[in-house]
Amino acid sequence: MKVLIIGSGGREHALAWKIAQSDKVDKIYAWPGNAGIGQIAERVSGSVMDINAAADFAQREKIDLTVIGPESPLIVGMADEFAKRGLTVFGPNKDAAQMEGSKVFAKRLMIDNGIPTAMCEVFDDPAKACAYIESIASKSDDPIVVKADGEAAGKGVFVAKTKADAIEAVNVIMNQRAFGTSGDRVVIEEFLDGPEASFMCFVSGETYVPMLAAQDHKRAYDNDEGPNTGGMGCYSPVPVVTDDVLMFVQDSIVKPTLAALKNMGISYTGVLYVGLALTSNGPKVVEFNCRFGDPETQVVLPLLETDLVEIMLATAQGTLDKLDVRWLNKKAMCVVIASGGYPGNYEKGKVITGVDKAEADTGVIVFHAGTENKNGNVVSSGGRVLGVTAVAGSFKDCIDKVYSGVDMIHFDGAHYRRDIGRRLIV
Ligand code: AMP
Ligand code: GLY
Repeated sequence: MKVLIIGSGGREHALAWKIAQSDKVDKIYAWPGNAGIGQIAERVSGSVMDINAAADFAQREKIDLTVIGPESPLIVGMADEFAKRGLTVFGPNKDAAQMEGSKVFAKRLMIDNGIPTAMCEVFDDPAKACAYIESIASKSDDPIVVKADGEAAGKGVFVAKTKADAIEAVNVIMNQRAFGTSGDRVVIEEFLDGPEASFMCFVSGETYVPMLAAQDHKRAYDNDEGPNTGGMGCYSPVPVVTDDVLMFVQDSIVKPTLAALKNMGISYTGVLYVGLALTSNGPKVVEFNCRFGDPETQVVLPLLETDLVEIMLATAQGTLDKLDVRWLNKKAMCVVIASGGYPGNYEKGKVITGVDKAEADTGVIVFHAGTENKNGNVVSSGGRVLGVTAVAGSFKDCIDKVYSGVDMIHFDGAHYRRDIGRRLIV
């Protein structure tokens, strides 16, 4: 069969890598992919937001399965267009993708259904938002979390340590419109204290299959310092996500969420990503995403034993309950190498060396994110550039392997965290 992957990041490279292992697949296309994806798929130039052009391509090439990687096309209804044309697609429709597309939608669903999450208030008036900040800051010294309502590529969230920082965040979001129309409303919420974990499920209506949990490292620098990023590294599984936590998350979060969506007439198909904070009062939802995590996918898929294409087809066709999904009893870790300056302004076009040697000598898998081919070289073209990934029997071995791979890879200005997974072995 022919598979089309929409997207161009590290997540999509991991998807292409896993999909290529399926016996069912003869040919993979990527819309538009990156330099790494281009080694296993035929790249087709096009924007992930050009829904009609992508659907025209899928119809013309008789694509059997389209996998939509990023949230942006899902939020504007790419899956709906493919389904309308009778094409098999993996990813939620526009209504379901509001779980990520609107923080207000997701918050209301959680609050109305007793799903544990941070308490919050929503404002469309910056003056009222600031008055609310004044009132809560007078009662508690906890940080105040200020979020733009819509999509902001993981950057529209401010964990403000002071009242002044919280007010400045409202200003950046609502007055300076740093995230465009996502600044029409702000969500101001309680700070959730505790380790975070990402819990993704394959979802087909009310049927779901959990994936192994993953732990992202969102801050740019070692020891969780610096600004929030899309994610600087990951490991899976997550020791603090115990069987009890897994049971609680499924019974008190995933099942009631899918039931609530059904009650609203929404049938969810694809991946539901639950971002969790494991607080002293139990696990609470930090956010929902309507797609695979990035870089969570780079550690979760290498541990998946079952054919991913079989799972995706079953998800899309409503037969997920009949599938036995298996995982390897191993550990995986990914270290993201980013461009100098990321997550702020960064340089592009830097020649990358050492990837082949790292893969050959250390056994790591290097997933490309922001890369392109230029004049016979692979060059950087995005903020997050590569995800160096190791699979091993222990986290200690993962760390040794992944950093020996990372040390062989070079480009001007490259930066990465040295402490991914360190908390697991001290
Ligand atoms: P979000 O886009 O909602 O996932 O937020 C991005 C990141 O901001 C999360 O992964 C957390 O690290 C942090 N964050 C968001 N909401 C909260 C909260 N209520 N309490 C503490 N940290 C938060
Ligand atoms: N790594 C965080 C995310 O995919 O949203």
